[in-house]
Amino acid sequence: MPTTAARFQPFGLTIFAEMTALANKHGAVNLAQGFPDFDGPEPIKAAATAAMARGQNQYARMQGVPELNAAIVARWKAQTGRDIDGESQVTVTSGCTEALAATFLGLINPGDEVILFEPYYDCYLAGIAMAGGIHKVVTLRTPTSPHAPFTFDPDDLRRAITNKTRAIVINTPNNPTGKVFSREELTQIADVCIKHNLIAITDEVYERLTFDPGLPHISIATLPGMADRTITLSSLGKTFSLTGWKIGWAIASRELTQCVRAAHQFLTFCSSTPLQHGAAAALTHGEPHIAELVRDLTAARDYLGRALEGLGFRVFWPAGTYFIMADHTEPSRRLGISPADDVAFCRRLTADIGVAAIPTSGFYDNKHWGRPLARFAFCKKMDTLQRAVERLSKLRQ
Ligand SMILES: Cc1ncc(COP(=O)(O)O)c(C=O)c1O
Repeated sequence: MPTTAARFQPFGLTIFAEMTALANKHGAVNLAQGFPDFDGPEPIKAAATAAMARGQNQYARMQGVPELNAAIVARWKAQTGRDIDGESQVTVTSGCTEALAATFLGLINPGDEVILFEPYYDCYLAGIAMAGGIHKVVTLRTPTSPHAPFTFDPDDLRRAITNKTRAIVINTPNNPTGKVFSREELTQIADVCIKHNLIAITDEVYERLTFDPGLPHISIATLPGMADRTITLSSLGKTFSLTGWKIGWAIASRELTQCVRAAHQFLTFCSSTPLQHGAAAALTHGEPHIAELVRDLTAARDYLGRALEGLGFRVFWPAGTYFIMADHTEPSRRLGISPADDVAFCRRLTADIGVAAIPTSGFYDNKHWGRPLARFAFCKKMDTLQRAVERLSKLRQ
């Protein structure tokens, strides 16, 4: 019998696929997987179908169609004030997922260590393992009050560095915590990168989904000394509610771009041509759609967060992304479940209450931090959230 290669055996089926299958089996409202249940903007879809109708259906260039590379350059300039060269510093990939894989494979040698902040997005682990690297974690500690951020101890970061450390992965705004890293925190990370000659790999797929004007998204690449040692990854899916398009990109110095492309050319070579044209239209003309999305998501966050608080969850209010982390200790007690069992809680919530959420211990090496927590996605229509809240009200009894 063929068996899965050893490098993937620790990972099994992703928790997102598992909880979505369970949600489908029980007809649950799916607040587990982070995709919108509403469609992306019509003019952006029209730009992709027009490209297809024009015959732009053959392989694209390895680094991306010129229109999209140029749109990414213009957007980077608008967001950061920095000039980059689209031909040698921008690589279009099949979603941020491929950009992550290409970055790890192109940069990490077997035995190299990569630092992650936990809770981490689970595909970082697999990407590092595919490259033969070893991950080390720094914990984002759960806040003690609802509006305080998850925070790390800079000494934990300094202690995690060894002579094998090659890179630090940052994900801001952060999935699953909803944390937006502050300038002070990014400066602490940048100082460590510079002192130890490390690369920053920064996943910024939620860069436009922030809710607190006092805590704007900052790209670590813009901090002094970081432009040449940062690979900035992002994608179209979250910002434009087009998660199924899987168009992403990597921005880096020429030298680091060569590392990313060394792997990208053999992973996919290039991404879907007509969708790259749609993506170029989104980045060029899409600002009003982003503003509307952020307005809707703010209302959705406030509605779901208040409802969860009313049901006995301790809600940690997110400053970005479209996820709420909530402590389920009190609702678990009412259901007769150990508060230290996030998996049991999310399974019961899905099967018996009819609402799926994600248990978070799988996003931690130090599982005890995640066991009291569940993640709820609020990138849903208001009536979907209302249906979820109606079902969740059974938790009161
Ligand atoms: C933090 C983070 N990075 C990357 C991705 C994947 O992005 P893409 O769909 O562009 O591959 C996700 C999707 O959920 C995510 O949450």
